Amino acid sequence: MGRELDADVRALISANEANWDERTPIHVASGFYGVDGSRDPEQWFADFEWTDLGELTGRDVVHLQCHLGTETVVLARRGARVTGLDISEASVREARRLAREAGVDVTYVKADVHDAVEALGRARFDVVYTGKGAVCYLPDLSVWAKVVADLLRPGGALYVVEFHPLLNALGVVPPSNGRDELLIRNDYLSRGHAVERDATYTYTDGPALTSATVSYEWMHGIGELTTAVVDAGLRIERLRETDRLPWPRRPSMQPAEGGWFRLPQTEPRIPLMYALLARKPVNTQG
Ligand SMILES: C[S@@+](CC[C@H](N)C(=O)[O-])C[C@H]1O[C@@H](n2cnc3c(N)ncnc32)[C@H](O)[C@@H]1O
Repeated sequence: MGRELDADVRALISANEANWDERTPIHVASGFYGVDGSRDPEQWFADFEWTDLGELTGRDVVHLQCHLGTETVVLARRGARVTGLDISEASVREARRLAREAGVDVTYVKADVHDAVEALGRARFDVVYTGKGAVCYLPDLSVWAKVVADLLRPGGALYVVEFHPLLNALGVVPPSNGRDELLIRNDYLSRGHAVERDATYTYTDGPALTSATVSYEWMHGIGELTTAVVDAGLRIERLRETDRLPWPRRPSMQPAEGGWFRLPQTEPRIPLMYALLARKPVNTQG
């Protein structure tokens, strides 16, 4: 335990853990993730992800903050030996059940991502995959990036596919004035401390949470992310920005390629997600 995070930050992470434990059964019951078979899990991936990841057969992949394992099982089906890691015991339990029922071989570990090196027995991986709602739960990207670097073999790759900080900066949906306008309402850059969110209702459909109704998020701009990754000794090979999202976050969004969604043509063309590919140099020590 204790990779350079203060006790007060650890307390916020514990609050998030309780919140995710309580969200989990709601997410399993919801059609949002489609774990009942109503959505092909391949649809959670953009076409460019497979280009960037390359051949996965026989490669060791760890999926950090894997939640129900929706994406984790797809990585395994593509031929990788996959480990999913998540802080939520309830999520890991459901992910194990769902993988078993789907006949997919995945190892799941319950741990805080900041403790991943120890929790995974100092194993090394060819790919660290994460994102789609993960980075906002990381208080300090420089601490996280060092964990990622320690998880990678020399030559291994970090792949982060994440909601763009510009998307997070846009106003709440639906907006209070009832019009679906793109307005900057939230921080793009970090203020260095957590943003407290009322998480009484999660982002899927379903009932209200009753006890762990608060979650904590940290905003991180693209510059902060790339700097943390470079400072951890990784080399950035690609940084994509895309105007597509895997689900219609705003009511006005329209169907796009691969079952994804984008804003109407009449709206400004802005990035809604990014994908960062970074590699640990082959000739690195450790
Ligand atoms: C929105 S999900 C992202 C995963 C996946 N893309 C998805 O949409 O299902 C966020 C996950 O991050 C996990 N999480 C949050 N903080 C964490 C931490 N410090 N260590 C490990 N997992 C964490 C939560 O338990 C949750 O399962």
